[in-house]
Amino acid sequence: MRRSVLFWGVTMFVLLSCTFAPTSSPTPAPTGAPTATPTSGAALPQTMALPPPRTKGPVSLEETMQKRRSVREFKDTPLTLAELGQLLWAAQGITHPAGLRTAPSAGALYPLEVYAVTREATYRYEPAAHQLLVHARGDLRAPLYAVALMQDAILHAPLTIVIAAVYERTSKKYGAERTPRYVALEVGHAAQNVLLQAVALDLGAVPIGAFLDDRVQQVLALPRDHQPLYLIPVGHPK
Ligand SMILES: Cc1cc2nc3c(=O)[nH]c(=O)nc-3n(C[C@H](O)[C@H](O)[C@H](O)COP(=O)(O)O)c2cc1C
Repeated sequence: MRRSVLFWGVTMFVLLSCTFAPTSSPTPAPTGAPTATPTSGAALPQTMALPPPRTKGPVSLEETMQKRRSVREFKDTPLTLAELGQLLWAAQGITHPAGLRTAPSAGALYPLEVYAVTREATYRYEPAAHQLLVHARGDLRAPLYAVALMQDAILHAPLTIVIAAVYERTSKKYGAERTPRYVALEVGHAAQNVLLQAVALDLGAVPIGAFLDDRVQQVLALPRDHQPLYLIPVGHPK
């Protein structure tokens, strides 16, 4: 009960913030909060291979659905590379030689881009190679928390998966009317895959929709056409 009151308080705050925020120019990051430096520098390692995803597990699909609950408190334990790779594969992994993925996509146009914010770095997931691309070095969890209504889960989770969308990939075929609906449906498919995969890995997660879009984009230095839609902190439940 207290949690849902808190959530709605947070939601009201973000709605009011958005209503009064200027829309013409990007809002600066909060004072003292670092923003990401995208990986154009040659000094950064560009890619990190992920272990092949498993396609069998000890928990049934029915059990994951039965057990799934939003988890907002996490232990300090980091995730393994295999767990990280499995979660990203669940979001957008390739499952067919034709490039089809774990989540369905209108016209197989795949507008979603997936990022992983961790203590060490922020990575972009490359589905085709099932690998990570270093997007920004360093820990961006605190600045991300600051622009997501200070929701503690983001500060403490060892991983926050960010799902963003490139609307143009879908609109070039489906136009301005259908695209917002299709993209919203798709991010829901991908997010649910992550939430159920987390349960199957004995992890916890919460889908977060209350954040300041422009500021999240700025803090993570996302390309202008990568619109963040969902933040999903994941970790070992406390
Ligand atoms: C679109 C959407 C946005 C949400 N945003 C937030 C959020 O910003 N913060 C949060 O703590 N929970 C958020 N939630 C999680 C809900 O609060 C949660 O799903 C709900 O209370 C039901 O609990 P359950 O997930 O454990 O079944 C969101 C859920 C959805 C579907």
